[in-house]
Amino acid sequence: MNILLIGKGGREHAFAWKISRSKLCDKLFIAPGNPGTAQFGNNLDIDPTDFAGIEKVCNDERIDLIVVGPEDPLVLGITDFFKKNENIKIIGPSAKGAQLEGSKSLAKEFMLRHNIPTASYKKFTKETYAEGRDYISEHSLPVVIKADGLAAGKGVVICNNHIEALAEFDLMINHYKFGEAGSTVVIEQFLTGIEMSVFVLTDGKNFTLLPEAKDYKKIGEGETGPNTGGMGAISPLPFFNADLKNKVIQKIIKPTVEGFVKEDLDYKGFIFFGLMITAENEPLLIEYNCRMGDPETEVVIPRINSDLVELLMATANGNVSDIIVDVNSQTAATIVAVSGGYPGIYKTGFRISGITENSSIVFHAGTEQKNSELFTAGGRVLAVTSFGDNAQTAVEASLQTLSHIQFEDIYYRKDIGFDLK
Ligand code: AMP
Ligand code: GLY
Repeated sequence: MNILLIGKGGREHAFAWKISRSKLCDKLFIAPGNPGTAQFGNNLDIDPTDFAGIEKVCNDERIDLIVVGPEDPLVLGITDFFKKNENIKIIGPSAKGAQLEGSKSLAKEFMLRHNIPTASYKKFTKETYAEGRDYISEHSLPVVIKADGLAAGKGVVICNNHIEALAEFDLMINHYKFGEAGSTVVIEQFLTGIEMSVFVLTDGKNFTLLPEAKDYKKIGEGETGPNTGGMGAISPLPFFNADLKNKVIQKIIKPTVEGFVKEDLDYKGFIFFGLMITAENEPLLIEYNCRMGDPETEVVIPRINSDLVELLMATANGNVSDIIVDVNSQTAATIVAVSGGYPGIYKTGFRISGITENSSIVFHAGTEQKNSELFTAGGRVLAVTSFGDNAQTAVEASLQTLSHIQFEDIYYRKDIGFDLK
């Protein structure tokens, strides 16, 4: 079959790497892809939100399956758009399902309706601004202020004092700090514990668990400094034992999928559950994403031994209950090499050299190829994935590969997995 993969980051390189290994895959196209995905298929210069352009490719290239990487096309309704075409299967929820990521307040309301444990919260708009100020002023600290809509991963601010919290609230509501995404603001209780992510494939009725992961979001070692899109990830997690896994399934995943059935939500694709595990070993749901994580995909996908296209077709055909996912028990670590200055201002266009893949897989996140040479083209540039018997040996293998890779102002964390010893 012919497959079209949507997206252009490290996540999509990992998907392309895996999809191209499937016995079911004849031709793979990636829109728009990157120099990494080009090793496994044909990159097409089409924006992920250009549905008409994507439809034309589907007709020209007789596409059977579309796999959507990022959230934007899903929230904008790519799945609903292709529903009219019976010959094309698509992995990713309807726009209504994607609202679980696209609107934090709708996601919270869904969690409450289905008794899914989460932080307490209240939502406010311009009309209820004064009430919002009162709510914040009386809230315990730290307090979490969230823009309701998509804000490219930047819409969450954790405030340690009330003055800062009120200022953030004012910036979001009155000064459009995150544009329309912040016209509704969610004020939330601050949760403490260990963060981790759980991923499933669901056909909207049943689900199957994929390998779990933990990502390291801060720029600095020891999880310090500003948030980034992700500086590295590890899978599996030693503390995710049978007891915790069972609690996550019973209290979070099952009620979510049962909620889809009760609410008649069309959801065929990945669900990414962002969890906080409390000191009492109880899982709380921080957020839903309607897609896989990046860089989590760069450790989750390489650990899956099963044919990914078989899993995706079972999902699209409503047969998830038949799936058995065969997983490599070794630990995978990915370390993200970023441009100096990221997540603030950084330069691009630096030549990249020294990529060898002896004991690692080097996924491209923000690269560009010119005359067969590779250049930096984004904040996150490469994600280097390796296997080991534990997080430390896997990280050491990625660090070894990274020690040969050069571009001006390269930076990466050497302590990914530091807390998993
Ligand atoms: P998001 O942009 O929604 O992925 O959230 C970014 C990060 O903010 C999460 O991964 C958490 O680390 C943190 N966060 C969000 N909500 C809370 C909360 N209620 N308590 C503590 N940390 C939170
Ligand atoms: N790594 C977090 C995300 O993909 O949202």
